[in-house]
Amino acid sequence: MTANRGFGIDIGGSGIKGALVDLDKGELIGDRLRIDTPKPSTPEAVADVVARIVEHFGWDGPVGITLPAVIKKGVAQTAANIDPSWIGLDAGALFAERLGRDIGDVAMLNDADAAGMAEMRFGDPAARKGVVALLTFGTGIGSALFQNGSLMPNTEFGHIEVDGHDAEKKAAASAKDNEGLSYPDWAKRVNRYLTVLENLIWPDLFIVGGGVSKKSHKWVPLLDIRTPVITASLLNNAGIVGAAAAAKEGLSH
Ligand code: BGC
Repeated sequence: MTANRGFGIDIGGSGIKGALVDLDKGELIGDRLRIDTPKPSTPEAVADVVARIVEHFGWDGPVGITLPAVIKKGVAQTAANIDPSWIGLDAGALFAERLGRDIGDVAMLNDADAAGMAEMRFGDPAARKGVVALLTFGTGIGSALFQNGSLMPNTEFGHIEVDGHDAEKKAAASAKDNEGLSYPDWAKRVNRYLTVLENLIWPDLFIVGGGVSKKSHKWVPLLDIRTPVITASLLNNAGIVGAAAAAKEGLSH
């Protein structure tokens, strides 16, 4: 049994996933537990699921929790793919109360920021140099921006306007599924999105993650942009691992 353990929960628009994490290796310890996100995804309903997951593992230490939202000092400021009643809510306080924890033992952060933190700690070392943008393609598009490994939180690059549309509505993995697009057709949209983004932020590297990165060989080679693109190393568990790391280290935002 490893000494350096943590616990992370990744709340998404379709599923809530939690697991014990080995914080030396950046890997899950045993299986993760996934429960469908309740509909509607109100704070109370989601907090019940989070409590079930923590109880399932019998975990009594600090907990890192992600939301698909801008998070400032524990308070959700947006809610793109979850119930709007999260906006303005102190999510950190809600979970701390529901889980019987001190507020300092619950780290709340944006889901893509968590995934990015995991990549910085446990992924390709090349990602720790220069300006690096991690993008997660799922229900929406999440983003995490780093300069030499330091996070600039809450960037929300999934919502830049591309050709008159909110970018994630056209280029998220959900758009591919909902519109029945082939990988090459969807890759064209991702290519257009990344071109607009690279012209705004001039990164040294893009890291692409989210569930669709498991099939990255079908679309990443089709991208034709200035910035190098690599696939996330931690794939779908990056949010859980990053959340657990944030809980262990404490968060400053
Ligand atoms: C939200 C982000 C989130 C991303 C991925 C977007 O719609 O605005 O906060 O990181 O989806 O879940």
